[in-house]
Amino acid sequence: MPEGILVPTGGEYKHQPVQSLRVGMELMDPAKRWKLNVVLQRLFLLGAPKVLIACVLLLALSPTTPVFCEAYEFIELFSGTGWVTKVMKANGIPTASFDILLGEHFPGKQDAMLVLLTILNAKMDNFWCMIGLVCSSWVTISKGTHCREPWAPLGMTQHQFVADGNALTSRACLLILAISAMGGGWLLEQPSTSCVEWHPRVRLLWRLLPEVFSAKWWACMYGAPTAKRHIGWSNCKTIKCLDLGRMVRKLHTKKGGLKSTKTYRNKEGKKSFAGNQHLKGTGTYPPAFAKKLARLHTRFCSKRTLWFGTHLEVDNWELSVHLFEELPWEEADWWPDAAMESVFCYLRGSKDLELGSLRRLFPTHLP
Ligand SMILES: C[S@@+](CC[C@H](N)C(=O)[O-])C[C@H]1O[C@@H](n2cnc3c(N)ncnc32)[C@H](O)[C@@H]1O
Repeated sequence: MPEGILVPTGGEYKHQPVQSLRVGMELMDPAKRWKLNVVLQRLFLLGAPKVLIACVLLLALSPTTPVFCEAYEFIELFSGTGWVTKVMKANGIPTASFDILLGEHFPGKQDAMLVLLTILNAKMDNFWCMIGLVCSSWVTISKGTHCREPWAPLGMTQHQFVADGNALTSRACLLILAISAMGGGWLLEQPSTSCVEWHPRVRLLWRLLPEVFSAKWWACMYGAPTAKRHIGWSNCKTIKCLDLGRMVRKLHTKKGGLKSTKTYRNKEGKKSFAGNQHLKGTGTYPPAFAKKLARLHTRFCSKRTLWFGTHLEVDNWELSVHLFEELPWEEADWWPDAAMESVFCYLRGSKDLELGSLRRLFPTHLP
């Protein structure tokens, strides 16, 4: 244990200040340092993996990287056609969005870093994040290929889309931990037939977070051309407002409602489903759904479950460093399934880092 840091003694913390630990932090103004301390302490409380905490620290200790700028109230991951982003922006809500269509490819190291950085630049305790996670490898319609089962949730990883689905889900779970530590709300959305809850990282997340609410809704009730049932999970009870009740049948059929699947008998004579040309479009949120989210924006920002006591939120840099140092660099902590080593190495290799005496806390090579 390094000399001169806050050492727990008999349940109390004894202050033994040292100057050397402050190298790097001197570059940060007190308000930002306080926020960094709060985020770190929440991550420790949540049981977040060391690699995530390390990435947050490395971003914060780089003098050329802006953090805690309070720039965003809403972040959309996998924004697709971007109806939600457009409506949020039209309502004057500072918004950031990410999608492969916009050039950001998760889980690439730079994009993951950019998303984490964007989360760190959101309005602390007053923002939320919509995550319409890629669902193709989780839904029933592709079960014949992904072959996921509760006892084999990662499925046939030799298929690239299944491996990608696993990695994107792990990455999304990690980002949800970061959002929670920033005091943000989040909503993870999937088609109702998705078995994403079987993913070990999703199970872990549900265990780490104190309360997760869920709701189901029909897309056709928001004007979508197909009926499509969705499911969402959130740390905010407001998600229940998305459920507009039972599907009104005429909404779906009389208005020329489209079917997105066809049924057929397979070789064994078993009734099977396959998607048709309308299936792809069902991933897009209808404008009315985007408008509903915009109306609920303030509630998603403010009504999320707060699981941390404010008494823990102290500006105690030495304590944060001590807790970080005490966490072991266990192999599992690297979250290889979320390809986090590449993000860590990318940040650790930055020439702009001002680590000073903290350098010894960040390995240059993976253990
Ligand atoms: C289910 S769709 C979400 C659609 C969106 N909610 C909408 O209203 O259009 C999933 C989105 O994830 C994006 N995507 C797929 N793989 C990705 C990746 N590796 N990185 C980033 N985005 C990805 C796709 O472009 C697609 O827009």
